[in-house]
Amino acid sequence: MKILITGGAGFVGSNLAHFLAGKGHEIHVVDDLSEGNIQNIEDLIAAGKCKFHRENAFHTEIKSDIIYHLACQKMIYSIRKPREDLYANTATTVNILELARKQDIPVVFTSTGSVYGNPTVFPTPEDYPPDPESPYGVSKWAAEEYCKLYHKMYGLNVVIARLFSVYGPRQRFIGVIPKFIKQTLEGKPMTVEGDGTQSRTFTYVDDCVEVLILLSEKGVPGEVYNIAGEKPYSIAQISKTIADLYGDYGIKFVSRKKGDLDQIHPSTEKIRALGWRPKIDMETGIRKTMEWIKNG
Ligand SMILES: NC(=O)c1ccc[n+]([C@@H]2O[C@H](COP(=O)([O-])OP(=O)(O)OC[C@H]3O[C@@H](n4cnc5c(N)ncnc54)[C@H](O)[C@@H]3O)[C@@H](O)[C@H]2O)c1
Repeated sequence: MKILITGGAGFVGSNLAHFLAGKGHEIHVVDDLSEGNIQNIEDLIAAGKCKFHRENAFHTEIKSDIIYHLACQKMIYSIRKPREDLYANTATTVNILELARKQDIPVVFTSTGSVYGNPTVFPTPEDYPPDPESPYGVSKWAAEEYCKLYHKMYGLNVVIARLFSVYGPRQRFIGVIPKFIKQTLEGKPMTVEGDGTQSRTFTYVDDCVEVLILLSEKGVPGEVYNIAGEKPYSIAQISKTIADLYGDYGIKFVSRKKGDLDQIHPSTEKIRALGWRPKIDMETGIRKTMEWIKNG
């Protein structure tokens, strides 16, 4: 199958590219390298398993049998650059939906748990009303609505995955887990934003890749699915686990970023009904991430 992955030089996209290339598919990556790193897929390109297009997803017209649309501007930049955020997260999605509609091919779109803002119902189900706290959350929610609209208007086969705190190999050090591991390896204190009581439901990247493929096969078109690990962990718990495993160099508390969310605990019943369970527990995921950082 010819597979187009937008944002495929980024963290999740490059892991997806490796998995799908391993299955013998013809992989095309569209990435403008605004945030991604070509090194993430260099081995695939060199082996002739992936064709790289340095291109903006807003303009791409590459034909394929399916599109995984992951290109995005991340939350951490969205407060500073709300216009770029709208462009990278919403406008590119409209182009991808148009591209898919013209070819009548399926799309898997990666949205985010940030669309919920700070919900008051836990575990938070997919039909909980969105109330984002950042331009990132708004732009992704708008993109979701375009996906649903294209399903309604054109019958397009598009499935929406709301991802939550994915971590693992190839992630940049802005992610809390690789950041804490790197700081510990360097013998420095871990920088905890706020008091560390805020919680996240982390998903190991291999589990995330598996579920994106599952959604392409079994996801109901036009539907939204929360994708998250087994249970929430506070940032303080994560720092303690890493300190216990690799050494305790203390904690430096710093102020929280605007738009940062408090408690995150989505319901995953809907995706579990399709047969998915996360396979990698937190400690194993941290160990695997550590191996990658040490060997990289
Ligand atoms: N990693 C997480 O924890 C997480 C959580 C929730 C949602 N998501 C979603 O999953 C997807 C992948 O996230 P990630 O962590 O791999 O992000 P990432 O920043 O590592 O990758 C995104 C990639 O998109 C590229 N890109 C940005 N704008 C582009 C454009 N206009 N055209 C082409 N390429 C462009 C960047 O260069 C980068 O390589 C995103 O859609 C993100 O919103 C991720």
